[in-house]
Amino acid sequence: MFDRIDHLGIAVAPEDLDEQIALYRDTFGFELVHRETVESQGVEAVLFDVGENHVELIAPLGPDTGVAKFLAKNGPGLHHVAYQTQDIDQAIATLEQRGVTMIDREARVGIRNSRVAFLHPKSTGKVLTELTEPAHH
Ligand code: CO
Repeated sequence: MFDRIDHLGIAVAPEDLDEQIALYRDTFGFELVHRETVESQGVEAVLFDVGENHVELIAPLGPDTGVAKFLAKNGPGLHHVAYQTQDIDQAIATLEQRGVTMIDREARVGIRNSRVAFLHPKSTGKVLTELTEPAHH
């Protein structure tokens, strides 16, 4: 059902975004491959390639977003793990059959026109988990 880890999502305060970009790009040497305002998730997202996988920095667009609330509660740091799937509709249906509570019962549009859905942390041992189906070219 899951092909591989797609990315690690890391929550960053907006004022720290440039500093964190410098860490991943200049200190770690990862290539910055994409930057996008993802309105559906209320974030500015910056994507780095790490081999076939990614690190995704996410900074909240406003105080009412999920990531802003996460930052207020936990401070910056690891926010979610994303697994890649080729059929997100099937994956959601299978997970629900297996008793997982979804935050998103329907996939929504994510970064780079992917389709994404989040699982509820109460079903995943508190690890916020995302499914992502890459856009098909
Ligand atoms: Co993500």
